[in-house]
Amino acid sequence: MKFSLTPAWVAAVLSFAVQSSSAYVSLSSIDRNDTGRYMPHSYIVEMASVNGLGGKRAYTGRTVHEEVYHSMRKRGILFDIFNEFDVSEIFVGASMKIESADDVSKVSEIPGVKAVRPVMRIPRPQVFDAFTVSDPTDPRLPATPFSTHVMTGVNKLHAEGIYGEGIKIGIIDSGIDYTHPMLGGAIGKGNKVIGGHDFCGDEYTGQNTPKPDNDPMDSCNGHGTHVAGIIGANPGNKFNISGVAYKASLAGYRVFGCDGSTSDAMIVESMIRAYNDGMDIITLSLGGVDGWSEGTGSVVASRISEQGRVVTIAAGNDGALGSWYTSSPANGLEAISVGSVNNVVIPAQNITVLGVDHAPIPYVNLEPLNVTGDLPIYALTNNTHIEDDACKPLPDSTPDLSGHVVLIRRGSCTFAEKVNHTAHKGAKVFLVYNTDEGALGGIDVTNHTVAMIPAADGRFLVEQFFAGASVKLRFPTDASFNMQDGDMGGLSSPFSSYGPTYDMHFKPAFSAPGGNIVSTLPMAMGEYGVQSGTSMATPFAAGAAALVLQARGKQVARSLRDIFQSTSAGVAATHEKGSPLQTVSQQGAGLIHVDRAVHTSTLVTPAQLMLNDTANFDSFHTITVKNTGSEPVTYQLSHVAAGTALSRQPDNSIFASKGPVELVDAAASVNIVPSSFTVYPGSTRRALLYFRAPKNVDKSRLPIFSGFIKITSPSETLQVTYLGAAGDLKQQTILDNTDSFFGEKLPLMMDMFGGPVKEQSALSNFSMQWIDVPTIVYRMAFGSPMVRIDLCDKDVAVKPTLTKRGWLSWLWPWGDDETDVPTIGSLQELSYVPRNSHLTTKQENGYNGFVFDGKFANMTRVENGEYRILLRALKVTGDPRKSSDYESWLSPVFGVQYSSGL
Ligand SMILES: *[C@@H]1O[C@H](CO)[C@@H](O)[C@H](O)[C@H]1NC(C)=O
Ligand SMILES: *[C@@H]1O[C@H](CO)[C@@H](O)[C@H](O)[C@H]1NC(C)=O
Ligand SMILES: *[C@@H]1O[C@H](CO)[C@@H](O)[C@H](O)[C@H]1NC(C)=O
Ligand SMILES: *[C@@H]1O[C@H](CO)[C@@H](O)[C@H](O)[C@H]1NC(C)=O
Ligand SMILES: *[C@@H]1O[C@H](CO)[C@@H](O)[C@H](O)[C@H]1NC(C)=O
Ligand SMILES: *[C@@H]1O[C@H](CO)[C@@H](O)[C@H](O)[C@H]1NC(C)=O
Ligand SMILES: *[C@@H]1O[C@H](CO)[C@@H](O)[C@H](O)[C@H]1NC(C)=O
Ligand SMILES: *[C@@H]1O[C@H](CO)[C@@H](O)[C@H](O)[C@H]1NC(C)=O
Repeated sequence: MKFSLTPAWVAAVLSFAVQSSSAYVSLSSIDRNDTGRYMPHSYIVEMASVNGLGGKRAYTGRTVHEEVYHSMRKRGILFDIFNEFDVSEIFVGASMKIESADDVSKVSEIPGVKAVRPVMRIPRPQVFDAFTVSDPTDPRLPATPFSTHVMTGVNKLHAEGIYGEGIKIGIIDSGIDYTHPMLGGAIGKGNKVIGGHDFCGDEYTGQNTPKPDNDPMDSCNGHGTHVAGIIGANPGNKFNISGVAYKASLAGYRVFGCDGSTSDAMIVESMIRAYNDGMDIITLSLGGVDGWSEGTGSVVASRISEQGRVVTIAAGNDGALGSWYTSSPANGLEAISVGSVNNVVIPAQNITVLGVDHAPIPYVNLEPLNVTGDLPIYALTNNTHIEDDACKPLPDSTPDLSGHVVLIRRGSCTFAEKVNHTAHKGAKVFLVYNTDEGALGGIDVTNHTVAMIPAADGRFLVEQFFAGASVKLRFPTDASFNMQDGDMGGLSSPFSSYGPTYDMHFKPAFSAPGGNIVSTLPMAMGEYGVQSGTSMATPFAAGAAALVLQARGKQVARSLRDIFQSTSAGVAATHEKGSPLQTVSQQGAGLIHVDRAVHTSTLVTPAQLMLNDTANFDSFHTITVKNTGSEPVTYQLSHVAAGTALSRQPDNSIFASKGPVELVDAAASVNIVPSSFTVYPGSTRRALLYFRAPKNVDKSRLPIFSGFIKITSPSETLQVTYLGAAGDLKQQTILDNTDSFFGEKLPLMMDMFGGPVKEQSALSNFSMQWIDVPTIVYRMAFGSPMVRIDLCDKDVAVKPTLTKRGWLSWLWPWGDDETDVPTIGSLQELSYVPRNSHLTTKQENGYNGFVFDGKFANMTRVENGEYRILLRALKVTGDPRKSSDYESWLSPVFGVQYSSGL
């Protein structure tokens, strides 16, 4: 999960999507020490506020926290407090280290404890300085940096004098370089940046001890300063940019050091601090894959929203990973999750083609490449659809490429790898030509002269080269222009993550411009730069919220999401004629139109309708239309469907579709009663909607259908956005039972040599020393509310749902009650587990591994003996008490044989 993608990074991710499936990940590459999404032994314990404890507190004279700690000590639980939270309406509890996983379940039984959740690792937002610019007199800078303001109507509000004055925005990120003149030059009362807090210090990596102080300065990361500029950069600067709400007050809450990740515990701490500091809007351009709404960060973000503050959070940059891949804390039910739409213009330069008749070829960059003279072209292959061009060292027969412009097709590996291999043959200038599905963007490979050109131009040049034409390219040295991004401008950014959540909630809420955004960088990092990501869309939404709060009053905060959603407009999937609208599961309610959010006199609620899956289908909905204007208004109600997203891969695959997710024309049907009415000033009218899921659509692809109910008056159009699944989530396969990832059928038990342990006559013994321990390797094809790993006797009477034909036939069937499952003890239990990605490492969420170190979850050592391990995953919407609602797998028999001397 990476945030703040430059197009270069997006391309690197997208290229994985076209990786050939024949390359398996090697089992022996598994890192047993990697704890994946969780911080080892760290938990957040939520406690009931005083009222929940009844008279106890008065009786004992202890605080809620002391009461719980006391009970924990009495039960012999070893723990270390990191942090306490004590805001009764938001969160009461503490983050702590609990050594034994089994103690965790004991903690949850203590009176006064509401929930115990593992602390999640939140990866650092990626910062790329692909477009750092520094020359104030550079005539080549974009002439219309306000394109994002024009796309969303922010320029109209600025013209009316609405700049977010009087609104306080807390930015939870890597800090803010407030010494930047466009960010006020100083910190403290009376400045643009009024304060904040540093929760971590420069050296914090997510693995070491934070060193907090009161100075949220961002000098080494840059992400937070870019975010701050999108909200608050002053106009009149050398690059002619301005923030969406540049008269709002900002506060920086720093949760990322120069390097590494952070934790959701620190994010919770910072959200509570921003809440206590009276921030009207709290914005977070960060997150990690989750798929569920129950994580601590999500829950806290949601509760803060319920208190009448606006919380905007990045939807995530995992668009390439496809459906069912939302992130937290943006998943918080009442938080506003923000998706990204690409800027309509990108800064570009023209290359002149010599020797053959062809229009100038644009490449994306703020500044011209430093190439002089007319250079001949060279192509590595005549295959213009090659998926892994220059991903391996080039053949010895390759001539010296210096003095040529080398054409390389995008895909499969990173730009840096392609450039490296080609540079080894002497090449100095590289043009990467796009694939048909990729977004045109900038490329930054340190120390190399490289840029991206459109797919069609690349194909043309390659064909010319192999036809023997003598084609040369001349690079401009000064002229740059704002190229209308005809491929992706104004459309959902390909990197913007797809929902919905596994409990069928509506994420993201809507989209804002986030692709190719010019903003501030720390003084030490070049002052200005262009970045892309939902990280950039999110502060745009926060700034937009400030404009609405200023214009309509802070009391609209609770209904702000409704206002934005009902005044947004859906964007198409492509610029082709007849293209369907993009699925709501990626764009939410569409691109925000902030001027309409400020000025609409019609209020429509609810603005989002969740129809759920076919098994829990919510077919009836009522919407309310209120006319706050001074004239009667007649509204027409109509239905506009978006493209239906085929969320699973074809051919009965159990895996989610990769992005861009294929759309088909298979609409839900909606009866709207009445379909027209007149509403008098100050009055409301209601309409009844009756939905039916689309019929002619392949259920095996788990289609996500969505669309809009338009509410049109002579002067404006509002909308209600809906989303549902044309399939039963409980029927979805959760555990990957294929060999497509490791070349071995999963789940499996792996030995110390990285080989799978097979069911066989000779017993596989483990000495349980060092790495001679079994590892259970499994992948999630879909999310699960609960995954359990238990130790069982070797003759356990359990019939798992995933079996290898033959060897289990003698086992007893399960009873229908979970208590019937005869396990010896729990090894691990995880709640709300997301699906895995198709990327190759555990850090990238490619797979899960459980290392059985010879101990139960309660740290008690397992006796020598012969065992099996039972892995169970609860189905989405399944009942945790019903064994038939789990998928299960039973390991081969293995022996625990501690070596003597232990
Ligand atoms: C895993 O952790 C152990 C103990 O902390 C350490 O000794 C070992 O070197 C680590 N292995 C790897 C591959 O990092
Ligand atoms: C670049 O070329 C396009 C035609 O392909 C043209 O429309 C545009 O004006 C050119 N821009 C500059 C700055 O030369
Ligand atoms: C451009 O390249 C030339 C040599 O190829 C070098 O001397 C010059 O410093 C470069 N200019 C910039 C601005 O990097
Ligand atoms: C590409 O080159 C190969 C030989 O390297 C040749 O066999 C093939 O016909 C060529 N394909 C095209 C489309 O020119
Ligand atoms: C760079 O390219 C060379 C030659 O193709 C290759 O041997 C080397 O492994 C590559 N390095 C990286 C980091 O990809
Ligand atoms: C880029 O070039 C500079 C100067 O030659 C060198 O110090 C630096 O290590 C290079 N960076 C990379 C990533 O190759
Ligand atoms: C969908 O139905 C399931 C099962 O009843 C429920 O848990 C979930 O909350 C529902 N989702 C929504 C958005 O109502
Ligand atoms: C730990 O769990 C195992 C299996 O459930 C149980 O047999 C053992 O008694 C427990 N140990 C302690 C100290 O509770």
